[in-house]
Amino acid sequence: MTTEDYKNLGFECRETHANYISYYKDGKWDEGTLKGDDCIKISAFSPALHYGQEAFEGLKAYRRKDGKILLFRPELNAARMKASCERLLMPEVSTEKFLDACVQVVKANEDLVPPYGSGATLYLRPFIIGVGRNLGVRPAKEYIFSVICSPVGSYFKGGLAPNKFLITDFDRAATYGTGRVKVGGNYAASLWPHHIAKQNGYADAIYLDPSTHTKIDEVGAANFFGITRDNKFITPKSSSILPSITRMSLMYLAENVLGMEAIEGDVPINDLDRFAEAGACGTAAVISPIGRIDYGEMSHVFYSETEVGPVTRKLYDLLTGIQTGDIKGPDGWVYLVK
Ligand code: PLP
Ligand code: COI
Repeated sequence: MTTEDYKNLGFECRETHANYISYYKDGKWDEGTLKGDDCIKISAFSPALHYGQEAFEGLKAYRRKDGKILLFRPELNAARMKASCERLLMPEVSTEKFLDACVQVVKANEDLVPPYGSGATLYLRPFIIGVGRNLGVRPAKEYIFSVICSPVGSYFKGGLAPNKFLITDFDRAATYGTGRVKVGGNYAASLWPHHIAKQNGYADAIYLDPSTHTKIDEVGAANFFGITRDNKFITPKSSSILPSITRMSLMYLAENVLGMEAIEGDVPINDLDRFAEAGACGTAAVISPIGRIDYGEMSHVFYSETEVGPVTRKLYDLLTGIQTGDIKGPDGWVYLVK
């Protein structure tokens, strides 16, 4: 594949060599093993299928200049998966088991980790599902924890090119619901608003806070951030959004490397003029500049609809530089796959 091919990879499932699977039965996890296909045989009565007893994670394997492979803060994905499991009454996957599974999958698919400088990565998708024969609304007795993977490029079209987003009147998660954890039901709720946004030429929907519909909450697959005209990094504080590892890292970098103030606070939808730049951030999204937001009659352009803003660019370069090992990040941010 050429660099151009890697740029056009998009975010799709591709053939890989092996996935990881582990079974939970009689109160404990088995050792786990690699298998060569991505099919799972489960009872059609499985709670994952009917009641959404499912949680997942997303992290990437990055190729360093010397060919070695890095993961970015994977223990934070493991910790978030524990929180998701707790919320859906699923058994915890230990950090050790989570990391071991990810490392096994990366090693088994080592040649599929895109080359350094291509901008592409190997996306890892750990997930857990409640399985076994069950009819009433109650947690499963048996579970499967698996890690699948695929080489990916940009999640949003154009990489660092700005996209336009549509504010939706729908909610993806309730104020005290499951928005804070990474469970399949949140994404099922986002399919329709996403479809409407796409049909109308937008990259994705942006959700408002579910209780007042006056403040930006997050994007369907990423968190929101804005850079104010006086150079502050602001990102929504909300009980219904996913605590993004990317955003937490960007807040740190904005504050400690760029000397900005980084604030989790309200982002009123009728006060977007205070932002010079805005973006969507996440593992899949990396940083995607938000060029424009439309909401009813309102249309708001941030820095530009065609060019990335200077602060967003700096944050992107810093973050991706650390992830690919070009820039030394804070201790423990990158995990070398040995
Ligand atoms: N918000 C939602 C709804 C997401 O699906 C994701 C992706 O994981 C994020 C935010 C970003 O989180 P992270 O940076 O941990 O990938
Ligand atoms: C991620 O960024 O890892 C996500 O899970 C977002 C999306 C693909 C669901």
